[in-house]
Amino acid sequence: MLNWRSEDDTAAWACTLAAQPLLANAFLTLHGDLGAGKTTLVRHLLRVLGVQGRIKSPTYAVVEPHEAPGLAPHATTVWHFDFYRFDDPREWEDAGFRDIFASPGLKVAEWPEKAAALTPLADLAIYIEATDETERKVTLLAHTPLGRSLLQGMNA
Ligand SMILES: Nc1ncnc2c1ncn2[C@@H]1O[C@H](COP(=O)(O)OP(=O)(O)OP(=O)(O)O)[C@@H](O)[C@H]1O
Ligand SMILES: [Mg+2]
Repeated sequence: MLNWRSEDDTAAWACTLAAQPLLANAFLTLHGDLGAGKTTLVRHLLRVLGVQGRIKSPTYAVVEPHEAPGLAPHATTVWHFDFYRFDDPREWEDAGFRDIFASPGLKVAEWPEKAAALTPLADLAIYIEATDETERKVTLLAHTPLGRSLLQGMNA
């Protein structure tokens, strides 16, 4: 269990995560209520990975791709999913999500519960709970060997 006392702690943890080479081809799920801080964490992560300019959030598009120089040489793209409005399983094939998950790059997903039958198993699941205005209690759960290696790398 982690304790982020402010958004600075959230940003600092994003830095630690970004320093893991295995991150480049990982699938992370972000869990937590509206306003928990899922998008905020992703934005900090994208910044540390070298994404510049305005960072658009996926809403109606469900997925927003970002070119992230910080993932090189292992991959180049971060795919930021937000399944909050996802309700048509046909979209999984039609919008090419299957292909995205089969290709290199970091995939992060908010509201993965809404597409649970379709997404692969997350390497690392991140549970964020707001305990006051700025404090977040965070639980990390690795579901794969890659996820466990990520956790080990961050504790080193
Ligand atoms: N320690 C913190 N970590 C992350 N966000 C924080 C923290 N402290 C305050 N915040 C604020 O909490 C809000 C979190 O909003 P955010 O959009 O990231 O939530 P979300 O989990 O993505 O919600 P949604 O389910 O609606 O997408 C932001 O306004 C952010 O500035
Ligand atoms: Mg969000």
